[in-house]
Amino acid sequence: MRMMGHDAIAIIPASTIKMRNRDVEFDYRQDSDFMYLTGFHEPESVVVLVPGREQAQFILFCRERDMEMETWNGRRAGQKGAREVYGADDAFPIGDIDEILPGILEQRERVFYTMGVNAEFDHRVIGWVNRIREKGRGGAHTPHEFIALEHVLHELRLFKSGVEINYMKKAAKAAIAGHRRAMQSCRPGMYEYQVEAELLYEFSKAGCETAYPSIVGGGENGCILHYTDNNSVLNDGDLLLIDAGAEYHGYASDITRTFPVNGEFSEPQLELYNLVLAAQLAAIDAVQPGNHWNDPHEAAVKVLTKGMVKLGILKGRPAQLIKDGEYRRFYMHRTGHWLGLDVHDVGDYKIEEQWRLFEPGMVLTVEPGLYIPSKSKGVPKRYWDTGIRIEDDVRVTRNGNEVLTQALIKEADDIEQWMSAAQ
Ligand code: GLY
Ligand code: MN
Ligand code: MN
Repeated sequence: MRMMGHDAIAIIPASTIKMRNRDVEFDYRQDSDFMYLTGFHEPESVVVLVPGREQAQFILFCRERDMEMETWNGRRAGQKGAREVYGADDAFPIGDIDEILPGILEQRERVFYTMGVNAEFDHRVIGWVNRIREKGRGGAHTPHEFIALEHVLHELRLFKSGVEINYMKKAAKAAIAGHRRAMQSCRPGMYEYQVEAELLYEFSKAGCETAYPSIVGGGENGCILHYTDNNSVLNDGDLLLIDAGAEYHGYASDITRTFPVNGEFSEPQLELYNLVLAAQLAAIDAVQPGNHWNDPHEAAVKVLTKGMVKLGILKGRPAQLIKDGEYRRFYMHRTGHWLGLDVHDVGDYKIEEQWRLFEPGMVLTVEPGLYIPSKSKGVPKRYWDTGIRIEDDVRVTRNGNEVLTQALIKEADDIEQWMSAAQ
C-alpha cells in the first residue's frame, strides 16, 4: 500500500472456478497474487486495498456462510472469518460488491487493476467506473488512471520472507522424498506413470500438491522438454529423466534428476551425466549477490560447450561455438527461472535492458541439461537417445547461496548406491 500511494485503490479478484467435466470442477487453485496478499484460498472473492482510508484499508469480499451449501461443498470463512482469521479490516458478502465498491472507487485517482486476465471481471470494473462517470455530472469524481498492479506486487513477490522460505523448504522436502522413492522403485519394464505414482505418494503424504504436471520420461522421451504423457515402458539401459515438484501452501519446488532405469550408468551416459553435473555446479557457484541473472547461464553454457567438443559432439573452438549459439542444438533452454508461488515466478529479469543483479531473498532454479535425440547428425551413436537435466532450487543469501534441494543426491556414485540399496 505504501508503494501504491494515497489516492489509489487495488482490486484483485480470486481465480475463477473451472469445470473439469459436466458439473465437476477442477481442483481449485487460488490466484498467486491474491494468495500472496491474503492467504485466503476461497473462490468467489475479491480483495480491495485502499491505502490511507480511515474506516478500512484491507477489504475482503467473500462468500457468506451458508449451512446447506457448506454441508455439500465444505466450510467457508464468511465475513467474520475474513476479519478474525485473515485480518481483513472489513469484509462484505461478494453479492454486495456492486453496491459497495463504486462508492469506494469514487474517491480515488488511480486504480491498480490488471486488465486482460479475467475478461468477465474486466467488464465489471469498467461498469463500476462508467457508473461513477455518469454520476460525474452531479459532482462525483471518476478515477482517471488505470495501472497494472504487477509492477508493484511482483517486485515484492520476488524477495522471499523467512515464512515464505520455510514454505519453500517444506515443498522441497516433499519433492526430495518423492524423487528418492522414485529412484528406488524404478525397474526396467515398469511404465513411466508407475514411477510417477511413487512421486505423488510422497507429495500427498506430506500434505502437498504437485506444483506442475510431473515429467517422467525414459530414454528419448527425456529429450522432449515438456513431456507429460508418462505412458511409455522403461527400457533396461535407458536413462529416466524426472522433473517433478511439490507445492506447499501455494509455494513450489521444482526438481529434476536423471538416473539409469536399471540402476547403473553406462560409460557414455556417465560421460554426459558428469558433464551436465559439472555445468550445474558451475552455474550454482555463479548465484551470488552482485552477479547478474545471466551469469549462471553463461557458466553452464561454457562448461557444456567445452565438454561437448571434448566428447566429439560439437566440432570447433568453444568460444566460437558459444558465439554462434551452436550449443543450442543440444541445450536449447535457459538455465533457470525465478521460483515462488508460481513455478515460473514473477519478477523482472532485466532492469532497463540490463540483466538484473542477484540480491538476498531471491529464489531461482538452476537446471542445465543436454538433449541428444536418436539419429543426431555428427554425434557418436553411443550418445543418442539421451536426455539429461539436473535441477535444483537456489536461494540467494547475503554471502552466496543456499541450495534448498541440497539433500537430494546427484553424484552418479551416490545415485547408483541409493538405487542398489532398494529392496
Ligand atoms: N518444471 C518446469 C521447469 O523446470 O521449468
Ligand atoms: Mn524449472
Ligand atoms: Mn523443472
